[in-house]
Amino acid sequence: MVASNQENFNNEELDDILRKHFTNNFRFGYVTIDGTTMPKRFEDLHEQILNFEVNEDDVWICSFPKTGTTWTQEMVWMIMHDLDFEGGQVNLGQRSPFLEVSAIYDFRNLMRNNKDFVPPPFLQDSLKFVKEQENPACIKTHLPFHLLPLDIQSGRKNPKIIYVARNPKDTCVSYYHHSRALEGYTGTFDDFVRLFLAGKLNFAPYWDHVLRYWEKREQSNVLFVKYEDMKLDLPGVIRKVASFLGKNLSAEQVAALSNHLSFENMKNNPAVNYEMVTELNKKFNLTRHHGAFMRSGTIGGYKSQMTPEIVDRFDKWTEFHTGNTDFSF
Ligand code: A3P
Repeated sequence: MVASNQENFNNEELDDILRKHFTNNFRFGYVTIDGTTMPKRFEDLHEQILNFEVNEDDVWICSFPKTGTTWTQEMVWMIMHDLDFEGGQVNLGQRSPFLEVSAIYDFRNLMRNNKDFVPPPFLQDSLKFVKEQENPACIKTHLPFHLLPLDIQSGRKNPKIIYVARNPKDTCVSYYHHSRALEGYTGTFDDFVRLFLAGKLNFAPYWDHVLRYWEKREQSNVLFVKYEDMKLDLPGVIRKVASFLGKNLSAEQVAALSNHLSFENMKNNPAVNYEMVTELNKKFNLTRHHGAFMRSGTIGGYKSQMTPEIVDRFDKWTEFHTGNTDFSF
């Protein structure tokens, strides 16, 4: 047992949960790379990503999973493309590719066993797909700062980085439902909470992720955005992001984009609601549970899922990690 931040983590037990409930025919295990949990397949991409040649004109959307990444991507892409609603009908995975997604969904086994199955290029070889993008590209990544390309880490290249954060309790609940419906997790919510707090889920530990980007927030190429602010004042965040990207939007454009980005509209927009992945799951019976990617889109939804005891564990864990920082939600 290793005592850490109020919780007692038994690594062997947690690894066992991952093995039993979070490996399947597109997820073959997990590794820890520089303190971050990643799917095993990431080992093949790690070096290539570190040495990835970064283009200064690109915009990077960085986040911990389930914090409003898709929402931010759609906002950024639209602003960068002068609200091209027609062009926006193309799948977001193609317009704003996810750098390391091939490690999240390792389809090689499935492809070997289903000769007619050809995943779209942005899923099959995501790194290659990103490299082939025209600039300025709008790149999504869940990588923590210390796993980003060395060009960025060293400051040799300074592309614009927009980081989006969301409070950890809602993030955890959202990640749980996502993991069940889209990544084949079959365990309980209680076990998922243990994995979350112990930093045993992909891209975790959570606070390490958030705080390392938070430390960079004063850099002129970095904008730190919160999901909660997008919920409370979407037009305000749109204006801030547009100004960061050097774009001028009229009041009408801000209103039109706010409407386009409403939860209802995003939920019904097949270009952004991950219909393609949900269909794949159904076709190959990849997950036991089904559910929409655009699930509830609320602040504080965790209250109906977490017991007071779990809430208390989260609050203590948060205090432990942020007590000495100026970060809060
Ligand atoms: P919930 O599961 O809590 O509903 P990501 O894109 O990082 O995976 O984040 C997904 C979360 O963002 C989901 O949260 C999803 O519903 C929410 N989301 C996506 N678009 C949204 C919108 N327009 N308004 C509010 N929440 C949105």
